[in-house]
Amino acid sequence: MKIQLWRQILEPYQLAVDELQVKFNHIMGAYRRAGEYSPIEQVTGRVKTISSILEKAQKKGIDVEEIEQDIEDIAGVRIICQFVEDIYKVVELIKKRADMTVKSEKDYIACKKDSGYRSYHIIVRYSVETVKGPKTIPVEIQIRTLAMNFWATVEHSLQYKYKENMPERLRVKLHNSAEAIICLDEEMSSVRDEIMDAQNSFRVKANMISDILNNIQNLYKVANKREVIKIQDEFFRIYKTEDLDQLERFSKELDVIAEGYQAQSLR
Ligand code: GTP
Ligand code: MG
Repeated sequence: MKIQLWRQILEPYQLAVDELQVKFNHIMGAYRRAGEYSPIEQVTGRVKTISSILEKAQKKGIDVEEIEQDIEDIAGVRIICQFVEDIYKVVELIKKRADMTVKSEKDYIACKKDSGYRSYHIIVRYSVETVKGPKTIPVEIQIRTLAMNFWATVEHSLQYKYKENMPERLRVKLHNSAEAIICLDEEMSSVRDEIMDAQNSFRVKANMISDILNNIQNLYKVANKREVIKIQDEFFRIYKTEDLDQLERFSKELDVIAEGYQAQSLR
């Protein structure tokens, strides 16, 4: 790695992070648009700054020329899940993909680190098209729950502040809170089905209302105004009852009406 060219060198890493964030966000959206529960809750990404790349190289005794080859987390993507079960779903999802190959993986959930850190890490090889042609680079994907992320974020700031000199009382607190996070994740998992149900019916309702409003809007363009106003009033009436079954029936009837006007093709 030529330090004076680091900006250009980091370009493909930024592209990989951007592309992967789009792709994982799309998966999340696809589940939700289908009214299904998404194992992915949130996606973030970053390219390591040149100063932390150099710091890591120095710490690990990596020659500047070997940085690109030896540092595998220059590009990093973080996937946050609600439940531990979701993490393993995401791992399977990644393994099935044709646009990345798993180079290595570490399950720090089954086997937590001494610090108390938990997460699932995968290094994938991912290809991007640069102006100079294709380039395959490693990307570190960290998959963790919201609770694990909370702990890791706090611990990371303290680690940064104290380096190797973390006061004992803080170390103990961090260990205790790591244990509490394990309990929290377990408690949450035990009510996962109920939480998923609640979130699903919320999304199903949101999707249905969006479909209904789309249909009404399109009908305004083609149908008799008075009739559409009647339909709209009926919608508001049913909406207020909060009866999801009734709303679903209404939505289906409206689909038929809209189809009659071929209004749906106006979307
Ligand atoms: P690094 O030199 O940190 O890359 O270690 P490694 O190559 O052995 O990889 P490892 O899987 O242990 O860690 C990779 C990344 O996981 C780190 O860069 C951190 O983002 C995160 N991580 C690992 N251990 C800890 C920890 O104890 N606390 C926190 N907050 N994050 C950690
Ligand atoms: Mg690392």
